[in-house]
Amino acid sequence: MAAAMAALWAAWACWAAAAAAAEEEEEWAEPWDGAVFQPPAPLGRVGVAGPAPAEPRPDAADLPVLLWWSPGLFPHFPDDTERIECGRGACLASRDKRRWRDGRTRALLFYGTDFRASEAPLPRLPHQSWALLHEESPLNNFLLSHGPGIRLFNFTATFSRRSDYPLALQWLPGVAYLRRAAPALQERRAWRRRGYAPLVYLQSHCDVPADRDRYVRQLMRYIPVDSYGRCLQNRELPTARLRDTATATTEDAELMDFLSRYKFHLALENAICEDYMTEKLWRPMHLGAVPVYRGSPSVRDWMPDGRSVILVDDFETPRELAEFIDFLDKNDDEYVKYLAYKRPGGITNRFLLDSLARREWGVNDATLPSYLNGFECFVCDREIARLEAERAHRASPRTSPAPEPRVAHHSHMGCPVPVPGFGSVEDIPENDSWKEMWLQDYWQGLDQGEALTAMIHNNETHQGRFWDYMHEIFLKRHQHLRPPS
Ligand SMILES: *[C@@H]1O[C@H](CO)[C@@H](O)[C@H](O)[C@H]1NC(C)=O
Ligand SMILES: *[C@@H]1O[C@H](CO)[C@@H](O)[C@H](O)[C@H]1NC(C)=O
Ligand SMILES: *[C@@H]1O[C@H](CO)[C@@H](O)[C@H](O)[C@H]1NC(C)=O
Repeated sequence: MAAAMAALWAAWACWAAAAAAAEEEEEWAEPWDGAVFQPPAPLGRVGVAGPAPAEPRPDAADLPVLLWWSPGLFPHFPDDTERIECGRGACLASRDKRRWRDGRTRALLFYGTDFRASEAPLPRLPHQSWALLHEESPLNNFLLSHGPGIRLFNFTATFSRRSDYPLALQWLPGVAYLRRAAPALQERRAWRRRGYAPLVYLQSHCDVPADRDRYVRQLMRYIPVDSYGRCLQNRELPTARLRDTATATTEDAELMDFLSRYKFHLALENAICEDYMTEKLWRPMHLGAVPVYRGSPSVRDWMPDGRSVILVDDFETPRELAEFIDFLDKNDDEYVKYLAYKRPGGITNRFLLDSLARREWGVNDATLPSYLNGFECFVCDREIARLEAERAHRASPRTSPAPEPRVAHHSHMGCPVPVPGFGSVEDIPENDSWKEMWLQDYWQGLDQGEALTAMIHNNETHQGRFWDYMHEIFLKRHQHLRPPS
């Protein structure tokens, strides 16, 4: 039995390492994700926060330091350290890890996709906050979807409206993007007569937690779908240029033109989570098509009006969904109601309008700061406030209480366990690749969060002990495998 346990553990640990590597690769191999416009700020847009002084000014010596632990995201150029001016005052933003143990370094900023529990900076210094930025898919790091994972952080900027610095509309440049006129219906009718399906599907990342292909395969039994990506492909894009994902990316006009021949776009996110919405949702609306959407369960909260989108989960079966799409396809008067928001005054959702008006960062807008700069200042302001409260407390402990600790909440991400795209888990064979991969990956995220929490609790200083903690948790979870004593 002990040998069986050891083998199980070895297989599991090996799987965990391989999965971490594969995830990153696959995400980059999803050429159609992010094809509308330049990927938002994390990968570009440096130094828009203001003119960069070559050297931090002399008075910078007292400023609180914010240390980007994921150096690739550091939103300044060209130096490793930069003075930033925020609402409450100034901070030094840095990516120089030698500053980690410095008493003035008040916050570490982590990027969720890069955050590895096994590589977290230990010991955790009590005077430092941890801040998390994670706007990408939940599948990149399921650790963050569990309470013990997210509660490692004090501040969050995630796709969730409930996070401290919400990025839910990260893929929506603005109302004008939605208002763009739709192509004439007769053009689309002409394409239909030439043999185009009512629905288009364009996806090349096939093994994903949302298990979307399992659903699309069913839907295809009842209504024609033209699928051009690697997933369930049944047609070729018409030109070599479009087939080459190196050229046909990021708002490519030819690709956009081509896609706007379709009346309906299958818009299925790669993972299901509240407020996780990507270009898959907004791009069809921009092009005047109707998204057939599955992703954030509360997506209607953000829609321009009461129609504008068809939700897969409003239908009992793929067949009923297919029948409804077919009905709209044959009834133009009903179809155009889904595009009513494009008329003047047609965007009636106050929550959407207010959220867009309130946000201080831009999407592909060189005149506005990126959300990296925005979140940095959010953390800077909080740290200045905490320093002031600590000072006041030291000066008069009786009248000024010590600042309350502030910890992130499960709802700042809280993505649910992946479920099959169609049917129930019990009906899916054990050797199915989705079942083998994503359920394990999700629950492994919980173990990792618990292991790191325990290490911090024990003032652990050696990262290397992470796998010992994981092993212990693993044994606890698999107690039933132990020989009876
Ligand atoms: C930050 O969060 C941790 C829990 O992860 C908590 O122990 C600590 O007190 C918090 N720090 C601050 C400054 O709120
Ligand atoms: C899964 O197992 C079944 C039989 O149990 C087999 O027919 C099938 O080919 C297997 N599939 C894969 C992907 O290994
Ligand atoms: C960890 O360190 C803190 C502060 O030095 C101390 O109060 C606590 O008892 C330590 N915990 C353990 C488990 O050693």
